[in-house]
Amino acid sequence: MKNVLAIYPGSFDPVTNGHLDLIERGAKIFDRLVVSILRNFDKEPLFTIDERVEMLREVTRPWANVEVDAFSGLLVDYARLREANVILRGIRAVSDYEYELQMAMMNRKLNKNVETVFMVPAVSYSYISSSVVREIARLGGSITDFVPPVVEERLRAKIL
Ligand code: PNS
Repeated sequence: MKNVLAIYPGSFDPVTNGHLDLIERGAKIFDRLVVSILRNFDKEPLFTIDERVEMLREVTRPWANVEVDAFSGLLVDYARLREANVILRGIRAVSDYEYELQMAMMNRKLNKNVETVFMVPAVSYSYISSSVVREIARLGGSITDFVPPVVEERLRAKIL
């Protein structure tokens, strides 16, 4: 058996139950899973990188083979640095596919040693995204079913 290190990259602003579902599935099939937050200087995030790292560390504590990290620059360069074999991405619906396919093809062109693996979350999470969760929280709706309790608490504190 090979020792497979997978990177699960994303913005995680904030981490949702959909992300957690994918982390749980990824942690089962890969030897190690690094959940890595992009330091994106183009986007104005709701949570700082440190806040997102803290929340992700807390909610991924049950999995001993899951690590939380942050990266900047090209994902393929980060994958090379971490000696990762796999990039893990979730596909919720057909609408995700076009963008994900383009990214997977481009990443393969840039680094042929990393394979992109797509996983599908439970159908009950298929309509959740961080941006929708942020909007619902901002407008006073309930986000209890969409994010872990620690994230709900922090979202409420941030928005109220
Ligand atoms: O959660 P997101 O915002 O959908 O994640 C997108 C992410 C972080 C995976 C993507 O933007 C990315 O990998 N950015 C790093 C820069 C890079 O490598 N760009 C080329 C992608 S083909």
